[in-house]
Amino acid sequence: MKRNILITGGAGFIGSHVVRLFVNKYPDYNIVNLDKLTYAGNLANLKDIEGKPNYTFVRADIADLDEMRRIITTHKIDGIIHLAAESHVDRSIKDPFTFARTNVMGTLALLQAAKEYWEGTPEKYEGKLFYHISTDEVYGALELTNPEGVESPFTTTASSSEHHLAFGTEFFLETTKYAPHSPYSASKASSDHFVRAYHDTYGMPTLVTNCSNNYGPYQFPEKLIPLFINNIRHGKPLPVYGKGENVRDWLFVEDHARAIDLIFHKGKIADTYNIGGFNEWKNIDLIKVIIKTVDRLLGNPEGKSLDLITYVTDRAGHDMRYAIDSRKLQRELGWEPSLQFEEGIEKTVRWYLDNQEWMDNITSGEYEKYYDDMYSNR
Ligand code: NAD
Ligand code: TYD
Repeated sequence: MKRNILITGGAGFIGSHVVRLFVNKYPDYNIVNLDKLTYAGNLANLKDIEGKPNYTFVRADIADLDEMRRIITTHKIDGIIHLAAESHVDRSIKDPFTFARTNVMGTLALLQAAKEYWEGTPEKYEGKLFYHISTDEVYGALELTNPEGVESPFTTTASSSEHHLAFGTEFFLETTKYAPHSPYSASKASSDHFVRAYHDTYGMPTLVTNCSNNYGPYQFPEKLIPLFINNIRHGKPLPVYGKGENVRDWLFVEDHARAIDLIFHKGKIADTYNIGGFNEWKNIDLIKVIIKTVDRLLGNPEGKSLDLITYVTDRAGHDMRYAIDSRKLQRELGWEPSLQFEEGIEKTVRWYLDNQEWMDNITSGEYEKYYDDMYSNR
């Protein structure tokens, strides 16, 4: 079937994996990648699909309503997968307004432009979909009731590797009440509410998914995993916030992209799905795995880079634990993660070490200033 799909934020980390998957898997779909190319957007992430006949890139700001109207109409868009956002918690603490502008006003502009165009087509909302990509951070923070970790009460096949621990008794469910803490998660929560409001008020076919922390190739090195891989390579300190006890639930980015593909095609309209691999790690344990893997692949003596660990002032309002219960998605649509965490980390570290030019291009220029501002006074 022919479709015209708009993917926003396709030059970013997760978006580039989603664009690549759709362009390669669906030659009959026209894929329009809309991205403002902020510091986080990088067309080098999509070099391999640049010339494909079913792929178009448009540089635009989602908060520009007229531009959204023009692009959606020109390309006769019938499906939207919305990933464009400001995505880094630390930046949101320094500059919350940019997050409100892009994540809230930008999402609203996109919704409104889609509404106007779709309501004006003969088939109205039939065959249309606005799919909004959100985060588990909207649910707030879970308590760390099992600091040493206990056998997880849930299992998923591929991710049930040796490290299969739960650090608390509760998990985020689709029904968990929203309780965002950071300006980032507050802006994402607000955008989720607008998406649902457009369904409930105007009947727009919408879907929302909330995913746990992603890792993998092409992630901007302000986020923990690529930042630490790059710092180890340069022998730079590894800034661990607080005591390193916070827990995150990590999912390989290609597994998230596969889930998005499945949900875009088979998800129930107006529904919500949580996406995660039951793969909780305490930051400090994860950091030790990264150090071990990077040292091994660089041919360093085991443990060489452990000395780089530097405990720094904690992030303000640092959420203690995130843990997603993704059994609804597994049960209803049959999704499960494809990789064990050890494999995913190995693949990821290898990718960053093999693609140093990609990293060096990103970390030259403006990045130095960001890094100094973020870490000099911690
Ligand atoms: P990212 O920061 O790597 O990429 C964001 C992209 O959006 C960039 O290409 C950027 O240029 C673009 N963008 C920013 N502002 C824009 C604007 N005003 N107009 C148009 N484009 C704009 O982010 P990511 O990690 O790939 O996250 C993508 C989405 O997934 C976000 O909505 C995020 O909230 C969500 N999410 C991320 C994670 C994660 O672990 N990274 C987990 C769950 C959900
Ligand atoms: P991050 O990758 O920023 O993702 P999020 O804040 O969305 O979970 O951070 C992951 C965890 O690592 C989080 O608990 C904060 C911590 N962290 C550090 O300890 N040091 C760092 O330099 C960074 C960037 C994060």
